[in-house]
Amino acid sequence: MSQQDTIISLDSLATLQKRWPGRAWVNSVCTLAQKRLATHPHGDLPRWLCTLQQLPAVSPEANLDSGTPALGGRVEDLKALRETLMELHPWRKGPLCLGGLRIETEWRSDWKWERVETHIRLAGHRVLDIGCGNGYFGLRMLGAGAALVVGIDPTLLFVMQWLACRHFSGDIANYVLPLAIEDLPADPTRRLSNPDRACLATGGGLCRTRDWPSFLPIEPAVHHRECR
Ligand SMILES: C[S@@+](CC[C@H](N)C(=O)[O-])C[C@H]1O[C@@H](n2cnc3c(N)ncnc32)[C@H](O)[C@@H]1O
Repeated sequence: MSQQDTIISLDSLATLQKRWPGRAWVNSVCTLAQKRLATHPHGDLPRWLCTLQQLPAVSPEANLDSGTPALGGRVEDLKALRETLMELHPWRKGPLCLGGLRIETEWRSDWKWERVETHIRLAGHRVLDIGCGNGYFGLRMLGAGAALVVGIDPTLLFVMQWLACRHFSGDIANYVLPLAIEDLPADPTRRLSNPDRACLATGGGLCRTRDWPSFLPIEPAVHHRECR
């Protein structure tokens, strides 16, 4: 098993499979994620994996109640932590606080979340977030009561940023898999070609932001609204 397989499968995908056992699509997307990693090598991957290994030991914590999700106990050497996390820049979606270090990201995703959250009810829902970036919105959705968030994004750097966040948060129910929407199994892809009808037909709900792809509660849901 290669280094990237080890990190992606053992550290995260295995816990996803445990969170929703017996669901064939969960195993299927995990296999697809590993396949994509094998078939879409990225020259920076060894450097990024090295960066992840340099993250300091920390007590896993996740405070998801504010606009700046705070992950991990406070790290002593914030300057060194900043230098390590800069190896994974650009940090686009946030703000985030990792080990006591605030990351002022390129985008104020908290402002976007404020516009969206009043239109969706997430308590108990399982969410598929398509084009999820580093998983920032997954953290916000967990904070709003979602039971599980599975994000997909083909940009490997964002998956690395999510793994860094996971180092600080510990095993929480927010996942980012290195997949594009077109990598999804045939049946979901067909459904997503007409997502509004498909979600409602299966008892799910859809939240589409102007920057589609965005997030999609998959079950159970009773709402359907377009947010801008
Ligand atoms: C404009 S950003 C939106 C990010 C986030 N959903 C938001 O609302 O702020 C689009 C995201 O979609 C991802 N993306 C691009 N092509 C994609 C594809 N074919 N399938 C899934 N995600 C894709 C990009 O890597 C990027 O993270």
